[in-house]
Amino acid sequence: MSTLADRVIWITGATGALGNALAHALHAQGAHVVLSSRRIDDAEPAESDRWSPLALDVTHGADVESAARRIVATQGRIDGVVCLTTLPLFGDFLSLDDAAWRQVLDTKLLGSVRVVRAALPFMLERGQGSVVLVSGRGGSEPPPRHLPGACANAAINLLVQGLATAYGPRGIRVNAVAPGPVDSPRLRAMLAQGAGGIGNALQQPARSSDVAQAISFLLSDAAAHITGAVLPVDGGRGART
Ligand SMILES: NC(=O)c1ccc[n+]([C@@H]2O[C@H](COP(=O)([O-])OP(=O)(O)OC[C@H]3O[C@@H](n4cnc5c(N)ncnc54)[C@H](OP(=O)(O)O)[C@@H]3O)[C@@H](O)[C@H]2O)c1
Repeated sequence: MSTLADRVIWITGATGALGNALAHALHAQGAHVVLSSRRIDDAEPAESDRWSPLALDVTHGADVESAARRIVATQGRIDGVVCLTTLPLFGDFLSLDDAAWRQVLDTKLLGSVRVVRAALPFMLERGQGSVVLVSGRGGSEPPPRHLPGACANAAINLLVQGLATAYGPRGIRVNAVAPGPVDSPRLRAMLAQGAGGIGNALQQPARSSDVAQAISFLLSDAAAHITGAVLPVDGGRGART
């Protein structure tokens, strides 16, 4: 049986390409999945008492905190958190003003910070929990037309290392998954805007399920001794095309 059976896992950005695949993968492993996004009605429904949609905008700090309290009130605990919120915004550096940068950082970087900050106290009470943040290859290889997202990714990679050090002694693991191109509407939008390429050893984009498997692994007890890691799911960096 999966070690994720009966675990309460909160996913933010759950209606996106990766979030949707992850929610179904975790549910199939017996987890109780709490799915958040602004338009949560867009989430594929699942007839299950282990499937809890929760409308939430991660740019509203007070709402994020009350969402965490509500999950604990209804499900009893939060075992794992995964942050997948993002605002795909591309453009030449000179064309992106403060408002554009703020939007991206507020959704992806601060969105992750707020969700972790809201869930962490409940995990610390129980002395256990697993957090997985999702960054991206741009965090180490910034595509010139995707600099706000790339900077958010780099900061997330740093954040997991700091959080892992700070809270490891209290039983909390914090890791990141850094996908390369994933076959998704987002990738097609990026490619259309010249904001990146496939360029990997396997010469193909990941499937959403590939990324979901990596996140599931990091959430699970199979990764019990892994924290502060940034796991690339990018098809290998060896051979670029
Ligand atoms: N797809 C790729 O090729 C790829 C590659 C590398 C890294 N990544 C990273 O992987 C993660 C997921 O990517 P994806 O392709 O699944 O993205 P996506 O399809 O664009 O989904 C983004 C999700 O974030 C939610 N969201 C956006 N703003 C929000 C807000 N203010 N509050 C709450 N939820 C919000 C969206 O739902 P609502 O609109 O309903 O709120 C949606 O569920 C992102 O961090 C992305 O940067 C993706």
